[in-house]
Amino acid sequence: MNDDFRTAARATAQLVADYLDELPSRPVWQPMDPAERSALLELTLPEDGVGFEELLKTVERTIMPHPMGNGNPRFFGWVNSAPQPAGVLATLAASAMNPSSAGGDHADVHLERAVVRWIAELVGFPHPAGGGLLTSGTSMATIVCLAAARDRAARNAGRDVRQDGLAGMPPLVGYVTGEAHSCVRKAAELLGLGSKHLRVVEADAEGHLRLDSLEAAIAEDRAAGRLPFLVVASAGTVGTGAVDPFEPIADLAAREGLWFHVDGAYGAFGVLDPQIAHRYAGLERADSLALDPHKWLGVPVDCGCALVRDAQELRGTFSLVPSYLRDEDAGGLGWFSEYGTEQTRPFRSLKVWASIAHRGRSGVARDIAHCTGQARRLGVWVEQDPELELLAPVETSIVAFRYRPAGLDEEAVQRLNSLLPVAVQQRGRVFVTGAVYRGQEMLRACLLNAATTDADLRLLLDEVKSAGAELLDRGRTSM
Ligand SMILES: Cc1ncc(COP(=O)(O)O)c(C=O)c1O
Repeated sequence: MNDDFRTAARATAQLVADYLDELPSRPVWQPMDPAERSALLELTLPEDGVGFEELLKTVERTIMPHPMGNGNPRFFGWVNSAPQPAGVLATLAASAMNPSSAGGDHADVHLERAVVRWIAELVGFPHPAGGGLLTSGTSMATIVCLAAARDRAARNAGRDVRQDGLAGMPPLVGYVTGEAHSCVRKAAELLGLGSKHLRVVEADAEGHLRLDSLEAAIAEDRAAGRLPFLVVASAGTVGTGAVDPFEPIADLAAREGLWFHVDGAYGAFGVLDPQIAHRYAGLERADSLALDPHKWLGVPVDCGCALVRDAQELRGTFSLVPSYLRDEDAGGLGWFSEYGTEQTRPFRSLKVWASIAHRGRSGVARDIAHCTGQARRLGVWVEQDPELELLAPVETSIVAFRYRPAGLDEEAVQRLNSLLPVAVQQRGRVFVTGAVYRGQEMLRACLLNAATTDADLRLLLDEVKSAGAELLDRGRTSM
């Protein structure tokens, strides 16, 4: 190893540590200057290489000053967390080893088996050997799980979908609510199910799947000769963090022979907070669960996870062992590439291991409970403020609300709230994003960072109100 690398590695560690230290005192996010943006967009391909020192300077001067903002405790946007520092360090070590975690007998493969089991243990999901794998995120984990669901449904109808495809079969129908994440629809489309056969059933006033609507839709589809095969529930919807009622959905799925899938991308780890754990009763009865260590656990992106109750359902769906990979089986479980779509796979497990091991189960649970506790507090403050309106109960750690000063009609409130997220973001003090929930433009604050303080939450509400007032003033003066 040459000294040049060693020196650069020390300098990189220093740069990264300084970056993480300084984040909280910097603006959360700032739009990039057009010149800086084009400097990146128009980078020329270098003919000759440059040294580590020069590379590091570029990273320091042109990349790190422009973060997305999600490392900052005052970032409440989308579902993007701050990275666990232990996971950051692990990323460097993992890339130095640079294995393909497809299979074989090397540490990364066995570590992945262990951390997938840890993830299942954390959320209380059953874990047979081989019953899951790490993925790029929940979008991919959903494709993996729904592919297994599709295979089982076709098999039950006497069809080998891998061999014969779906042509000529009655349509396989799945059920979601309008609050389900778009990755479910994407998976259904990619798997050839057709998005019109992913039926949207009604949610109740608080965003939970309604059993009566689900039952009626299933009966209607059966009567029309279609094959109901799947129900997808949420362990924390992306809009408001609502958790579907798993027990009755599991009962219905068992009665009707449906594959029961849970999208726990954002919210599954909420089960670690004893105050809300009851909401998750029945999660363990799902056939599959997709979730994201790169969200609430803070594992550096990317890292999703697919868990299934029956490992053979995955292996039967994906196993395709070419002759050059035979006989290299570790422990009889085969290769990870037999359980999902990827052949060459990154060493994701080291950052998962480091992030969880550094906090321990109790530390992870404390972090989660910190966020849910703060979200409940923020919800109360919103309710107490006459200029703000809470739009959904706070079930996990998302607070859905809007700015509604006196004297505005509904149309003006809608317009104002559609402009508010960007107006707040541009001020740089806090970062919050928006969405539409039940036809209403809203702000949704997603709390994932255990370093966020009550003062940060107060600032969030102050910023929303002053950015809102500013927008109103501007609107009045431009009239
Ligand atoms: C509830 C929910 N499901 C699925 C996804 C998609 O996950 P990923 O971005 O990891 O593919 C997200 C992302 O925010 C989500 O919040």
